[in-house]
Amino acid sequence: MAVHLWGLPEDMDALVSFAEEHELMLLEDGSHAHGATWNHQRTGTFGTASAFSLNGPKPLSACEGGFVATDDTELYYRVLLHGQYNKRCRREIPSTHPLARFAVTGMGLKLRIHPLAAALARTQLTRLEDHLTGRQVVAARMCAALDGVPGIQPPDLPLAARPAWYALPLRYEPAELGGLPIEQFLDALLAEGATEADLPGSTCPLHTHPLFQTPQALLPGYADGQGQPADGFPAAGYMHATTLKLPVWHHEDDIHLADAYTTAITKVATHAKDLQ
Ligand SMILES: Cc1ncc(COP(=O)(O)O)c(C=O)c1O
Repeated sequence: MAVHLWGLPEDMDALVSFAEEHELMLLEDGSHAHGATWNHQRTGTFGTASAFSLNGPKPLSACEGGFVATDDTELYYRVLLHGQYNKRCRREIPSTHPLARFAVTGMGLKLRIHPLAAALARTQLTRLEDHLTGRQVVAARMCAALDGVPGIQPPDLPLAARPAWYALPLRYEPAELGGLPIEQFLDALLAEGATEADLPGSTCPLHTHPLFQTPQALLPGYADGQGQPADGFPAAGYMHATTLKLPVWHHEDDIHLADAYTTAITKVATHAKDLQ
């Protein structure tokens, strides 16, 4: 599962060849990365299937909803039965297919997007390219302004990557700031007025959630303690604990906001000693 976190495409050359080598199905979560590309190919088109959220402030938004992209017909029928029931399943799953008999009920739930939301996203789609271009300009300016600021490492982008810049994730290096904890750095940043700066919260290593650690109380069919140990993915844990996240605006008119944020970060970083 490639998750193009914060809109930065994963190294799809590496993941595609890894999946091929190990005969794994490659899936993509493009929820942060609508329109992002790797080697000029859109994220979401490398794997067998990809899922995109259209929720809230995503690069492409329907306010709520999402979609799946796949060119695998068998998987598509299962996706249909997961999200829909009755008419669309009956219309699209051939009556001779072994899954067709489930068409009326699907998997028992109706998870499809509200049609008005889908219409909203479709209209937004016409603006996506402009927004992506705007975000590129703004993100490049922010990265350049933060280059060399102690304790703050802008992402090191491979040439193949064209991000969607859902956010600008910065690597926080406390050792360069006298060990100042990231939470204290964030507090100072918020006090400077950079109120949309954030630490990733729920976007964390998934296996640490109670759903995977102790599912029994919620889903009696599952036993607790069967999953990965909470510290089982140290690299993911490190990424989560050291990421500071800034918003990226998609209009050049908002460049003054981007500048205000990078100025605030530079100020806090250069006064880190005073915060100890
Ligand atoms: C990476 C990622 N995948 C999936 C989702 C789920 O999206 P939704 O809320 O539309 O179900 C989110 C939610 O923000 C997300 O950040």
